[in-house]
Amino acid sequence: MAIRNIEWIGDAATGHLRLLDQTRLPGEVTYLDCRDVPTVFDAIRRLSVRGAPAIGIAAAFGCVVGVQGRSDADAALQDASARLAASRPTAVNLFWALERMKQVRPRDAETLLVEARAVHEEDAAMCRRIGEHGLELVRRYAGGERGAVLTHCNAGALATGGIGTATAPMYAAHDEGLPVSVFADETRPLLQGARLTAFELAAAGVDVTLICDDMAAQVMREGRIGMVITGADRIAANGDAANKIGTYNLAVLAKHHGVPFFVAAPSTTFDFDTPDGSKIPIEQRAAEEITEGFGTRTAPVGVKTYSPAFDVTPHELIQAIVTEKGLIEPVDAQRVREVLRG
Ligand code: MRU
Repeated sequence: MAIRNIEWIGDAATGHLRLLDQTRLPGEVTYLDCRDVPTVFDAIRRLSVRGAPAIGIAAAFGCVVGVQGRSDADAALQDASARLAASRPTAVNLFWALERMKQVRPRDAETLLVEARAVHEEDAAMCRRIGEHGLELVRRYAGGERGAVLTHCNAGALATGGIGTATAPMYAAHDEGLPVSVFADETRPLLQGARLTAFELAAAGVDVTLICDDMAAQVMREGRIGMVITGADRIAANGDAANKIGTYNLAVLAKHHGVPFFVAAPSTTFDFDTPDGSKIPIEQRAAEEITEGFGTRTAPVGVKTYSPAFDVTPHELIQAIVTEKGLIEPVDAQRVREVLRG
């Protein structure tokens, strides 16, 4: 993608992390320069940088910022990591990246920057591989009479270090000249589908149609959808997958309409310490995101709200998980282990 969502500017000792402020898209392309850990924390918390892999990459660079100019680098890295770990609870890539940064020796800014860059580049490579493995699914299930690809939230280039996870097969198909078209759920309440997925797919020349979340059932019944593919924030050992709220709805609808439902995610999104989806921590978001999102009040003052940011799709509803190591199909604990741990 022409716009860079995450970039390190300058050298290790004095440089800083530059993040595309995704809260301003699609209207404005503006950047946040992060020179300290609280600024990185806020950027993650307020979703300026978001999407599980991108959160992990930003946190890795945040560790570099955290040790700059500090003689007590060990303590500084511990502090930075503890602070960043408290930003968002569901995306396991965040904790994976922080653990990886804590293994680095020596713990100086230069060595940490090399590691953060590696985290970034490896993610881009995993996205490419996911695209290659997912392309076959697009060939088989989407295009022409078979219908479009439906996705939810943004698991695209903006959410990763590369071409996205759920979007990677779409970009791969587009590059091959396959006539792939995409329906993007707008994704209440923060509209990542409308603001981000529609934005990046259109910018790349992919045929994209925006729908409200509650239109998906009708669109499926009309036979317009050949397959559904979404990203994930954390996948438990048995294949249960947490992703943006509303993903589970799509999986249920897909089953009812006989449409295959896929999840695309790198191995860094799997959490083998969590046996099943019931143990995945689900982030709760502020009431205002529902009642006065984007500055316009749309609900009575004082109304009670409940706002889980993610839901868990049970593995039984997922036909396959597309990873950089290949397809996990069928989705169960044994197959997850076989594909990811060989
Ligand atoms: O709250 P967000 O915007 O961070 O939620 C993002 C998602 O749910 C994505 O689908 C997921 O992180 C995968 S990104 C490749």
